Amino acid sequence: MAILPILKYPDPRLRSRSLPVESFDEDLATLAGDLRETMIHAPGSGLAAPQVDKLLRVIVIDDTQLGEEYGQKVLTLVNPQIIEAKGEQIYQEGCLSVIDLQSNVIRAAEVTVEAQDVTGQKFTLSASGRQAVILQHEIDHLEGVLFLDRISRLKKDIYRKKLFKSQKMAKNS
Ligand code: NI
Repeated sequence: MAILPILKYPDPRLRSRSLPVESFDEDLATLAGDLRETMIHAPGSGLAAPQVDKLLRVIVIDDTQLGEEYGQKVLTLVNPQIIEAKGEQIYQEGCLSVIDLQSNVIRAAEVTVEAQDVTGQKFTLSASGRQAVILQHEIDHLEGVLFLDRISRLKKDIYRKKLFKSQKMAKNS
């Protein structure tokens, strides 16, 4: 397993649509392991393959329950699809690919996701609260969508200006 570099906004590679996984082989198992290790190292709540420059529909999410140690439980979802979404919730999100920004995002309160594991076995996962947010956020990555796209244009503009200004300063120093 390896810790992979995480692409950062505004890298255009974060905007591509990921391809469905068709081969449930050794490479897929390696990718899932790398995603898991990279997420834990960050540390983050979830990570999608396109964030490490692999355009495949694979995500990992933290599944730590209250009272458990972070990193003990990580779920891998291959070809995940939201088949049902209910209600609404507002949750403060961040992203390993979007530095220095946290913002409230409106998402479905409950989702049911159909996915496969690394062997190709199908399963269904129902989630609410934080886990539902993580699932929606990571599945967005597979479509090239970032949580930035779900906040107000004004907030996004302010963030972009700040980011580009600090990058320019870093370049000049
Ligand atoms: Ni993210």
